[in-house]
This record gives sequence, structure tokens and C-alpha cells, in this order.
Amino acid sequence: HRHLLGIEPLRPDEIVTILDLAEQYVRFNRGRDRHSQVLAGLTQINMFFENSTRTQASFELAGKRLGADVMNMAMQASSIKKGETLIDTALTLNAMRPDLLVVRHPQSGAVDLLAQKVNCAVINAGDGRHEHPTQALLDALTIRRAKGRLHRLNIAICGDIAHSRVARSNILLLHKMENRIRLIGPPTLMPTGIEAFGVEVYDDMRKGLEDVDVVMMLRLQKERMDGGFIPSEREYYHRYGLDAEKLACAAPDAIVMHPGPMNRGVEIDGTLADDINRSVIQDQVEMGVAVRMAAMELLARNLRARPSEVRA
Ligand code: CP
Repeated sequence: HRHLLGIEPLRPDEIVTILDLAEQYVRFNRGRDRHSQVLAGLTQINMFFENSTRTQASFELAGKRLGADVMNMAMQASSIKKGETLIDTALTLNAMRPDLLVVRHPQSGAVDLLAQKVNCAVINAGDGRHEHPTQALLDALTIRRAKGRLHRLNIAICGDIAHSRVARSNILLLHKMENRIRLIGPPTLMPTGIEAFGVEVYDDMRKGLEDVDVVMMLRLQKERMDGGFIPSEREYYHRYGLDAEKLACAAPDAIVMHPGPMNRGVEIDGTLADDINRSVIQDQVEMGVAVRMAAMELLARNLRARPSEVRA
């Protein structure tokens, strides 16, 4: 593939290839010397039109550890504020001959559109409610390390499914890898027709969590509930917040995940989130750097294989 825009176009064997390479980078990142030359001579530009802590920091770190020249565009200070469009901004940066653009944008489809206009490789770092492919890949690596496999697991994804690109990318990936997926949440936050994606839908959290191996919690994304129904945090926590009592319905060795940022006391109990016997939330962050290094290495291999006049 020339770009990494979503999980949708990836085959299961391609997902395994990324995870296997990321596994090597987990060991590399835990070692003493965390510098390589895999991306030496390549220029990576990070364009985040929406806030980020984990994704932006890990893409920057990943690029630097691989020897790329990394530039973070401060989008708040860019000419976007003067009315320049996304495409004109992308074409302007494209003329500076980057090799890799990492883009986050609040609108679904914006990153795909941008990828059609530039000569370099593009990675989707999250577009609206559409996809967040590197999040699903880092979640998959975390699950595979904790459970020893990435197939035939019972996995619950809980909370605000309707507004979540993390849920969408995870559903696509976990379904391709032949897992049984349960979606748990209030009907108001469940997309209609989602069963077509091969998932089971639950309103009752305790029933939905019965015997699952993995519990993936999602943030209540109020910023995307434009004028729609916003549940009260107290009521939401009572019915859908994960605490030790609800987790007891899952398998005894079930792991707890959250992509971050967390709303403690809204979708997850703070003590449970910090319980290293159950929670793999910090492992997810660690896997994020490794998965992004792997994804960038694989795109760079394709990039170097293309004749430079095609890239011009
Ligand atoms: N999980 C995730 O995408 O976090 P950030 O918004 O902090 O990048």
C-alpha cells in the first residue's frame, strides 16, 4: 500500500506483518540504543488539526527513533486561521517534498481526500468518526501480547460507539482476525445497522460482559454530540461505567483497555484503570510507538521502491 488510511483495505496477513515488525520495535524501544537509520534522509510532517497527546507524541518519537527529519506543524498557528483550505495547505507542504504526512482531522474522509492530492505517503492519525488505523493496530498488538493470540477471543467494546473512530477501526480489524465482538452501550450511542459488521449488540453491560476475554472502554465523546442527546455523567457511570463489580462478569483473566484520553469516573473507575493486574492501558501507549515505527518502515520501503520521477 502507498498510504495507511484505514484498516478497511488491509488483509489479515498484512495486519500480522505490521504486528510482527512492531514486536521487533517493542524490543528495540526497550533497549539502550533507540536510534536507527531506517527513515534516514526522509522527511515526516505531522499535521494535527485536532488535539492529541498520545498519537502526536508517539508519531514524533517513532520518526525520530527511525532517523527521519520530523516536523510538527502547529496547525493552530498556521494559515488555516486565515482561511486557507485543507487541500491548499496540503499542496503547499507537498511542494516542500516531504516523504510522509501524518494527518489528524475532525472531518471523516478529509485524510483520504488529502492523500489523493499529494505525492508522498499519508498516514491517517484519526479522521472524524471514520478510522484511526494505528490505534486499532496498537490495540491488536496489546491484545496479542496479553492473550497470546489475536483470534477466537470474546471482545467487548463499550460505550460511545456512535462517535468513535477507534471503535470502527477496531471492529474492522478484530472481525478480520475472526474474533467474536460484542458492542455494549446505550441505544442512543449505538449506530443503527451496526450488526451488519458481524457484531452482537448489548444494552445491558453485565450481560454483554459475560465471559469476555477483553474489555475495551471508550471515551464519551461530547465534542461530537453536536446538539444531540448527551447523557448525564452520573447516570452513564452507573449503567455503563466499568468498575470492579461489573468487571466480575467477564472472564477472571479479562484485560481492561482504554485508548485514552480517559474520563475517570465517567466511563471507567480510576482505581481499576490504574490496576496493573487488570489494566493494560499503559501497555497500549507503549505499543503505540512500536506500531507507528513498523507502519512507517513498511511505507518507507514502498516509497524507496518507487522511482523518484513517479514521486516528483
Ligand atoms: N488514543 C488517542 O488517539 O489519543 P490522543 O487523542 O491523545 O492522540
